[in-house]
Amino acid sequence: MPQNRISIFDTTLRDGEQSPGCSMDLEEKLRMAEKLEELGVDIVEAGFPIASEGDFAAVKAVAARCRGVKVAALCRTSEQDVARAAEALAHAASPRIHTFCATSDIHLEHKLKKSRAEVIEMTRRAVAQARNYADDVEFSAEDATRSDIDYLCEVLNTAVEAGASVLNIPDTVGYTTPTEMKYLVEQVNQRVVRDRDVIISVHNHNDLGLAVANSLAAIEAGARQVECTINGIGERAGNASLEEIVMALHVRADRLPFETGIVTSQLYPASQLLSSIVGFEVQPNKAIVGRNAFAHEAGIHQHGVINNPLCYEIMTPESVGVPANSLVLGKHSGRHALSLRYMELGYDVAASELDAAYTRFTELADRKKRIYDQDLISLLNATVGAAAA
Ligand code: KIV
Ligand code: ZN
Repeated sequence: MPQNRISIFDTTLRDGEQSPGCSMDLEEKLRMAEKLEELGVDIVEAGFPIASEGDFAAVKAVAARCRGVKVAALCRTSEQDVARAAEALAHAASPRIHTFCATSDIHLEHKLKKSRAEVIEMTRRAVAQARNYADDVEFSAEDATRSDIDYLCEVLNTAVEAGASVLNIPDTVGYTTPTEMKYLVEQVNQRVVRDRDVIISVHNHNDLGLAVANSLAAIEAGARQVECTINGIGERAGNASLEEIVMALHVRADRLPFETGIVTSQLYPASQLLSSIVGFEVQPNKAIVGRNAFAHEAGIHQHGVINNPLCYEIMTPESVGVPANSLVLGKHSGRHALSLRYMELGYDVAASELDAAYTRFTELADRKKRIYDQDLISLLNATVGAAAA
C-alpha cells in the first residue's frame, strides 16, 4: 500500500453496537456490513464472538457474505476467546483476529487483577495462538493512553515478536489530547515498530469530544489505520466518527495529504441506513451527515450561497451523498418524488416495490409531519422484508 494510504477499520457492528440502544439483529448487521463494503472500508469488525451466540453468528454470517473486505473478530487474550474468534472467521475470505488486553495499572489492578509480567505473557500466548489461525493479527493495548509508556512499549513489542502486524493504541476512555496522541504514536513508531513491517492503528473514544482530532493527530504522527464508526456511535460518548475523519482528510488534503478507499458519496446513505436500523437520528448539527450540515438559515449566508456555494460550504452536499434536490416529502408527494429520492439514496427500486413502499409512505405521512430519509429506508426495508416473507 502507498505510504500515505490510511486503512479505515470500521467497528460500527462491534464497538458501535455497544452503544446504548444500538443493538442490531443478524439481518440488520448483514445489511449494514454490505453497506460498509460498498462504502469502501478496509476492515469490518463484525463482533466479539465469545460474548454471545448472536455475536458469533454475526461474525460468521458477515464473513460469509462480505468477500471483498477484511472481516475482524474481537477476542480477549484467553485461549477460549481466541479459538472462538478463529472459529467464527473460519470461512472468511480475508480474516483478521483482533486480540486485546489492558495495559494501564488501573485496569491491571482493579479489573484484570494481573501483574505486568502476567499481561506480557498473556499477550505473547494469545498473539501466537491467533497466528496459528490467521496471518493477519491485530493487538490492542486497552487503555493505552493511561498506561506507563515504557511498559506499553514492552507489551507492544511482545505482540510484534509473537506475530502481530497491526498494533492498536486505544484511547479507551477518551482522555487524551491531540498533542499527547501524536507523541504516543511517534514513540511507538521509534521504540517498537522501527524498520519492521507493522502498522500503527488508533482507536479513539469521544468522551471529551476529541476523538476525531486525536485520530488526525495520530495519522500525522505515522498511524496508518484508524478505527471508527458510522455516525460516531459507540460506548458512552461514542467512537471517532468515520465520516468526519474521511472528509477532514478529503477537504484538507493540502494539510493532510492522505488517502482512503472510501467512496465519499456513500457516507450519507450509510449514515441514514444506520439511523434507520438503530431507530434514532443523529443530532441535527452533526458534521457531514446531520440534517443541518448543509442548511443555511441566515439571510446573509443564503445570499452568499446563492451567489457561490463556496462562500459558506467547504464541500458540496453531493460529495457526501446528500441528495441535491430539496423536495420535501410529505403527504402530498407523489410516486415520482419518492422514486427520485430512492434513486438519490442509491436504491434501485422495482416498480412493484415502489407501489408497496408508496402505500406505506402515504400511511406514514398521515401520521408524521416530516418524513426523513431514514424513514424512507426503513419503510423500503419493511416492504422488501414483507414481500420476501
Ligand atoms: O476502547 C477500546 O479500548 C476497545 C478495544 C477493545 C479496542 O474497544
Ligand atoms: Zn472502544
